[in-house]
Amino acid sequence: MDVGLKIWRFNRETGDRELREYEIDAPEEATLLDCLDIVKDKHDGSLAYRKSCRMMICGSCGMRMDGGAVLACKTRIYDVVKDGHVPTISAMGNLPIIKDLVVDMAPFWAKFRAVDPYLRPGYQEPPHGKEHLISPQRMNVIHKEALCINCGCCVSECNAMESDPRFLGPQALAKAMRFVGDPRDGHKIDRLETLNDEHGIWECTRCYFCNERCPKGVDPRDAIAKLGAESMKEGIERDMGAKHAKWFVHSAKTTGWLRETELVPKTQGVVSAIKQTKFALGLLKHGKVPPPFPPHVAEGVGESRRLYDLVQDQGVRGYDAIVQGERALAKLEHMHDEDNGRDPFAEGTLRPYLPDEKPEEIGGANEGMGSLTQADVTPGEEPTRKPEGGA
Ligand code: SF4
Ligand code: SF4
Ligand code: FES
Repeated sequence: MDVGLKIWRFNRETGDRELREYEIDAPEEATLLDCLDIVKDKHDGSLAYRKSCRMMICGSCGMRMDGGAVLACKTRIYDVVKDGHVPTISAMGNLPIIKDLVVDMAPFWAKFRAVDPYLRPGYQEPPHGKEHLISPQRMNVIHKEALCINCGCCVSECNAMESDPRFLGPQALAKAMRFVGDPRDGHKIDRLETLNDEHGIWECTRCYFCNERCPKGVDPRDAIAKLGAESMKEGIERDMGAKHAKWFVHSAKTTGWLRETELVPKTQGVVSAIKQTKFALGLLKHGKVPPPFPPHVAEGVGESRRLYDLVQDQGVRGYDAIVQGERALAKLEHMHDEDNGRDPFAEGTLRPYLPDEKPEEIGGANEGMGSLTQADVTPGEEPTRKPEGGA
């Protein structure tokens, strides 16, 4: 198979940057990484890129193809070039380039370290020969986050990092959620406090590019949403982002509308709102601001209030509320089979109950899910497997 590649070459020492074109012969099953190997082995030994496992595990081969981050060893080149397309390959974004497709990962690892990416246990060591057990359902909360291979594809595409290089970014925040949601960790509140500081969770612009580009299905934006929801559940609401979200809920519950006129004072405070009076008057002049009094109450506000009450009744808050939808959506996407009537809420997925249902009627599917706490770490059970090196 003939494959054409355009590769952005860069030399940090000289500052030279050049788009070079290569024509190679590659087998049909080749990945982008295989093609780069062919270029390096047979055409141009000076090409620099990173690789190690060649099987989507080590996270070394992140780069951009046609402007979007990919793992080179996951990208089958046949699908890209079969219609004569010549892809452009370049280094990942948001990280300084060292040479060609190799970026300096030091800023990436600095942010990774900043979130304490290790378990800080909140339990006593079990008695000798025993171990703590956690239900698989409880670990589902961080199942996706634990899949991260630190490839940096999400960071490459993050537009919040582009405008603020100090923003912690999607990879570090997904890793933070991996420990915030781990019932064995004893520092959830400290962690959430730090993540609510400047350059933390509320700086995300919700562009979802990280979800779109993550090659492992970690969905970092969803992890950030879980951290936000859990912060609010724990009463950590000092950031404007949290106040903004809270006002959205209050406004929808009370009138069924988003009352934008009150959004600025409720989110930024009265002083800041006064500073923006001129801007507000401009909007008013152009008919963009409805009068705040009396507040306009939507005809169907009862429905909005019932939805609010339902969520309160179910008591599923914080990251549990997001996980609830996450697993059902994944099942719909990957295995739901309408013809055979398979239920996306069955088999270990927490199912929300509807107004005409009783929670106990659907209890089977919800067993072991929902608002679980650190008490889910069952102390001192007999080990379920032999310790390594054991007889
Ligand atoms: S959703 Fe947030 S974290 Fe993800 S890429 Fe966009 S700004 Fe960055
Ligand atoms: S979240 Fe996904 S894209 Fe980001 S570093 Fe982890 S595996 Fe890579
Ligand atoms: S070479 Fe390891 S993930 Fe691609």
